[in-house]
Amino acid sequence: MISTDYALLHRQSAALFEGIRDQTANAANLAAIIYHGVEGLNWAGFYWWKDGGLILGPFQGRPACVRIAAGRGVCGAALHGRRTLRVPDVQAFPGHIACDPKSRSEMVIPLFVGERPLGVFDLDSPRPGRFSPEDQTGLEAIAALFLANIDPESG
Ligand code: SME
Repeated sequence: MISTDYALLHRQSAALFEGIRDQTANAANLAAIIYHGVEGLNWAGFYWWKDGGLILGPFQGRPACVRIAAGRGVCGAALHGRRTLRVPDVQAFPGHIACDPKSRSEMVIPLFVGERPLGVFDLDSPRPGRFSPEDQTGLEAIAALFLANIDPESG
């Protein structure tokens, strides 16, 4: 099992966010912290809810699908269901959108500001079953820190 020091990543994120409330800047730095600090990822980044769908935001990894229609893919399903989705085998997930054919597992955390959908934080791995409940807990706490440290852009 891969163990990640999420307490350290949380402190590093807090330090980078200090004094900055810009959504794009903090999302870009967070994507970089997670991509480089969590082992075994091939993509980490954001999609923003805009004009009734999801549109690509800051990320690390290979170029990705730009638009995801409402409710589509793991990203749309997580936002629609308002809960984190951990998908151990993306090929077994009906409607999974394969931006990178190397991706084997995925975790998507929905982001809300009050009742308003902001978007999703999406992580992909080339390893099947990469994301554990501990990864979910650690990354949800960091996503909450991100939400507490931005002035949301209007979407
Ligand atoms: N796999 C996602 C699409 C986004 S990429 O993984 C970066 C999905 O099914 O929603």
